[in-house]
Amino acid sequence: MNCDWIAPHYWWLEKLGMGRTLGRRRRWFLPSLKNSRRALVLGDGDGRFLRELLRQNPVVYAAYVDLSSRMLKLARHKAGVDRVAYKRADARTLEFAPGEYDLIATHFFFDCFGQHELEALISRIAAAATPGARWVVSEFCTTSIPARLLVRVLYLFFRITTGLKNQSLVDHRPILNAQGFRLIDASQSRGGLVVSELWER
Ligand SMILES: C[S@@+](CC[C@H](N)C(=O)[O-])C[C@H]1O[C@@H](n2cnc3c(N)ncnc32)[C@H](O)[C@@H]1O
Repeated sequence: MNCDWIAPHYWWLEKLGMGRTLGRRRRWFLPSLKNSRRALVLGDGDGRFLRELLRQNPVVYAAYVDLSSRMLKLARHKAGVDRVAYKRADARTLEFAPGEYDLIATHFFFDCFGQHELEALISRIAAAATPGARWVVSEFCTTSIPARLLVRVLYLFFRITTGLKNQSLVDHRPILNAQGFRLIDASQSRGGLVVSELWER
């Protein structure tokens, strides 16, 4: 997947297609993350979540990781360099320090991966989490036929614009469960099409 081309257009394409829904989902659990100190923010794209996290939590230090150099540049511009270490890297192969992070954030990131990739990725990230770590997830949910159709269109769009290989949504919940995380809160928009979840270990 290469988001360099789409990076500067991402925000307005999102607004055009989904209005404020995704932004609302990303921000939903921020009030519950005020005690976090070390955050691993994966695939955050242009940094809109990161910026809000830093605004609402004045003590958190964050590691931002994204594959796209253009996304990283936009994120650095939006969120600044105070309290953030930016890294352009593939999260599938990057080495994470064990037991380092008390907060993991993955918004609309799991959908980039197939079953085996996601299992391996979540297991590696989980090893980097502290015992009581929290994990915020935003994702699409395909429980209805219209939702399945919309997600298929979105996959086609990302395949054309970014070369995304994965073409279907994997259920991340059993994978997080298997890594010792339990769902402590969830919220949804648009009749369940988009969900935000708060997990804790
Ligand atoms: C669908 S976008 C979501 C962006 C943002 N999190 C949001 O809420 O809109 C997926 C992001 O994950 C990044 N990404 C995809 N695969 C990745 C990988 N293997 N390692 C790191 N970042 C990756 C892309 O560059 C892109 O910025």
